[in-house]
Amino acid sequence: MYYNFDEVIDRRGTDSVKWDGMKNVWGRSDLTAMWVADMDFRTPPFVIDALRRRLEHEVLGYTSACEGWDTTICRWLQKRHQWEIRPEWLMFVPGIVRAQAFALLCFTRPGDKVLVTTPVYHPFFLITERLKREVVRSPLDLRDGHYHIDFDRLRRDVQGCRAFILCNPHNPGGRVWTVDELHQIADICKESGTLVISDEIHADLTLPPYKHHPFASINEAAASNSITFMAPSKTFNMPAFKVPLPSCPMTLCANASKPLWRRANFAEGIFLLTSGAKRLSNMARSGWNRCWPIFKAISTLPRLT
Ligand SMILES: Cc1ncc(COP(=O)(O)O)c(C=O)c1O
Repeated sequence: MYYNFDEVIDRRGTDSVKWDGMKNVWGRSDLTAMWVADMDFRTPPFVIDALRRRLEHEVLGYTSACEGWDTTICRWLQKRHQWEIRPEWLMFVPGIVRAQAFALLCFTRPGDKVLVTTPVYHPFFLITERLKREVVRSPLDLRDGHYHIDFDRLRRDVQGCRAFILCNPHNPGGRVWTVDELHQIADICKESGTLVISDEIHADLTLPPYKHHPFASINEAAASNSITFMAPSKTFNMPAFKVPLPSCPMTLCANASKPLWRRANFAEGIFLLTSGAKRLSNMARSGWNRCWPIFKAISTLPRLT
């Protein structure tokens, strides 16, 4: 497989948010678009080919999940992140931000407090406010060019919060939270009865020598008090496809709402890409392995480590 990262692809005229939406947001369209986190590189051929093959059939009827879609994801998480999950924990939702909104609707009520550590990806507080929950901002500490959690402050701020939307790894701070930091978050949130909604959309883009640790994999306290969202969208540059993979290793929080969470069937009709999931995942793995040396090289650039 050959990737040409030098090719400049003009995305204007494709309804690209970043390029075609520039004038609306910034008042002019002659800028270099760096305000939306998608890439101007081609989406990998194994994704495009799978789509093309599916579209060639020309009937886009209701589609169920193909056999193996769930075990394929379990294997990916086990191999990449050493996280053992059960297939029944998995559920599809149409996008991470929508998933967060739905989690807030399921597990919090209007007026409830929801913690975010700032600065953070802005929809974390926008959706919370739109859903009439109260945002509690707990600022991160910027020291020596890196963001850190002030745990004394977090412990104070989290009191009375029903949920904490954690960004793991952190956007925009670029911090990959350590096992020790995640342990502390798990303990603090368990103690205060705060559900952790862990947004792990950037998990697969973690550069060496750092390693992503899924929050729920940290310990039982974390697993039983969290809901995790992951997606292939950032890693494989396909955010137009709202087919992420959230997992729900959740056993005790908001029991009354849990059936609601499981019952809400977002899935029907969005399985287009899962047909041939195993093949896709094998190709993704091979594409990934080829990209790994590039990631390693990038990770040695100054200011990234
Ligand atoms: C931390 C984080 N979560 C979620 C999203 C968006 O996810 P989605 O497009 O699936 O709603 C982004 C996009 O940049 C992000 O940075």
